[in-house]
Amino acid sequence: MSITIALSKGRIFEETVPLLAAAGIEVTEDVDKSRKLIFDTTNPEVRVVLVRASDVPVYVQYGGADLGVSGSDSLIEHGGQGLYQPLDLQIAKCRVSVAVRNGFDYAHAVKQGARLKVATKYTTIAREFFANKGVHVDMIKLYGSMELAPLTGMADAIVDLVSTGNTLRANDLVEVEPIIDISSRLVVNQASLKLKQKPLRHIIDAFAQAVAAKN
Ligand code: PRP
Ligand code: MG
Repeated sequence: MSITIALSKGRIFEETVPLLAAAGIEVTEDVDKSRKLIFDTTNPEVRVVLVRASDVPVYVQYGGADLGVSGSDSLIEHGGQGLYQPLDLQIAKCRVSVAVRNGFDYAHAVKQGARLKVATKYTTIAREFFANKGVHVDMIKLYGSMELAPLTGMADAIVDLVSTGNTLRANDLVEVEPIIDISSRLVVNQASLKLKQKPLRHIIDAFAQAVAAKN
């Protein structure tokens, strides 16, 4: 009974490696040195596929993968349909925040009831946040490098992930309001959980123990 795990490159992959190890699973190749997208592991029944972070919930929802590790940012944007979310893995922690160009008076603009041009890939999170504040926004959907939007005059503000804050600083932007804390979740295909209960339970339990031991 083979198991496919969907991960995304970068911090999520790196911080998932020790959790996989706790379940006796090791990717047998250096993913950073390869252009491959499917990787074998030390468990002949388990393979890892690498997809875009925002596609992890999609692969798991439609059964392209049995389970995956997804940031809660991607999960909110996806909606979580068809996914069982048994564990907060407490990894790849960061936050989604509003940021503006250094010098832009965000508080004043909000107070004045100005219409804000907001560029983001997190349109669901941003829409809900500004709606709750009663701020009218024109949303510009982007797929990356959001930092450029205020710098080019295309937007007043961005809604993006902030981890170290280095990217904002490097681009002369300032974080003006945190929106939500983010961490990665284990997501499981609901049908897989029934059909492949034993091997999936083993992985979920091993992950749970590793998370508990670390936190
Ligand atoms: C993410 C995020 C920020 C940056 C935050 O971008 O969108 O730009 O990391 O991290 P920091 O606070 O530690 O600097 P990423 O590099 O993943 O690329 P993308 O936005 O183009 O997808
Ligand atoms: Mg970015």
